[in-house]
Amino acid sequence: MQSLSVVILAAGQGTRMKSSRPKVLHEVAGKPMLGHVCSTALAAGATNLHIVYGHGGEQVRTAMEATDAKWALQAEQKGTGHAVAQAIPGVEDELVMVLYGDVPLVTVDTLRRLANDADGNNLVILTAMLDDPTGYGRIVRDDDGAVVCIVEQKDATEQQKQIREINTGMLVTSADNLRRWLGQLNNDNAQGEYYLTDIVAMAVADGKPVLSVHPGTTDEILGVNNREQLADIERIYQRRRATELMLSGVTLADPARIDIRGELITGHDVYIDVNAVFEGRVEIGDNVRIGANCVLKDVVLHTDVVVEPFTVMEQAELCDGVHVGPYARLRPGTVLHSGARIGNFVEVKKSEIGAGSKVNHLSYVGDATVGKNVNIGAGTITCNYDGANKYQTIIEDDVFVGSDSQLVAPVTIGKGATIGAGSCITKNAPAGELTLARQQQKTISGWQRPVKKSN
Ligand code: UD1
Ligand code: CA
Repeated sequence: MQSLSVVILAAGQGTRMKSSRPKVLHEVAGKPMLGHVCSTALAAGATNLHIVYGHGGEQVRTAMEATDAKWALQAEQKGTGHAVAQAIPGVEDELVMVLYGDVPLVTVDTLRRLANDADGNNLVILTAMLDDPTGYGRIVRDDDGAVVCIVEQKDATEQQKQIREINTGMLVTSADNLRRWLGQLNNDNAQGEYYLTDIVAMAVADGKPVLSVHPGTTDEILGVNNREQLADIERIYQRRRATELMLSGVTLADPARIDIRGELITGHDVYIDVNAVFEGRVEIGDNVRIGANCVLKDVVLHTDVVVEPFTVMEQAELCDGVHVGPYARLRPGTVLHSGARIGNFVEVKKSEIGAGSKVNHLSYVGDATVGKNVNIGAGTITCNYDGANKYQTIIEDDVFVGSDSQLVAPVTIGKGATIGAGSCITKNAPAGELTLARQQQKTISGWQRPVKKSN
């Protein structure tokens, strides 16, 4: 393939979004629409990206900092032809493809087909047949079916308005063709704009073949003008991801109730219940079960992991056979070794929990290293913070911590030690011994409960 510059039109104001955020920065699956278009263009083989941004669009440049693109400012919006013309001086590649920053569902496959048909001489346009073509530019063909021109809705005759084949706006041609044609555009039309679509008639006049390609589905050409359309596009996107997952061997309780906002890598026989949200990069091994209403962000789950409902986790690693939740919260830096169990209302932060260890109820474990086969009783707290600094708690293998204990860090509980329930441990507890730190129990015999006075 020849080298390909992709020009993405993103100068539109998006008034109907009723937002202070530029339209192309509104997100689909947690990523700006413009970001989706850039990724798809790159995956389809773009050599260079050129983004045409609008007045006051510094926000767009800042948000897209991580993307390697050339920027062309279109201060005043004088039409799609004028927009492309702003990017053309920066184009050094042989072919140019035009895409829209507010049409985020176009697929890599469609763009590849579009690019593959370009030969450096012709013009290839992406068109679609719609039951309701209202609003779109129409593809006018001659009796032999050859493309003659594109006519905009506002310039179309009643007869042309009957045409159901529409212009999606996406196209590819050579940079040389495009430069020449853009130089010939005028704004002598119903909207007083420089229409990119006028290059089609120019190609015909120049004797250049005009080819048309269709998208895989008409979903791919949907644009976003308001938040309702944004929500529709989000659902279509999520349904696509859900379908990919199911076809790769994952069972979804309901493909309409899953949200994937990033990369999700799955093994075999994974089961995902309703309302799971995946963010960042999530990796899930074989035979994992995710319960209802869980949020997983940047986590790795190895095989046979069970996540019970309402569990939230971020930057954690769960080794084979780990069982967490319901209502568990795993914060960044959590590593749960094989067979560990974290139960309800337990928060774990920056801690390692050894193989087979259990923290089953109502506990906070932070900045701790917990060994193997440890049992941490209900309500245990690692007091890791003195108001200024954080300290480590080390709990060695085979320790038993009685319920409602506080372990004031820095502190070490030696191997095989037992901590009596209700202890506030401020000094290291020796291995193998029982350590208690609590008031002696006493009984006041003959004590009487007060009785209510009668008046
Ligand atoms: C355009 C096409 C029409 C096609 C339709 C598909 C033209 C003249 N018409 O119509 O044939 O059916 O798209 O949706 O090309 N933009 C700029 N700068 C401008 C004008 C537009 O960046 O000066 C951007 C917009 O932000 C948008 C895209 O270009 O992303 C298309 O603009 P829009 O106004 O929606 O085009 P239409 O008139 O609907
Ligand atoms: Ca439009």
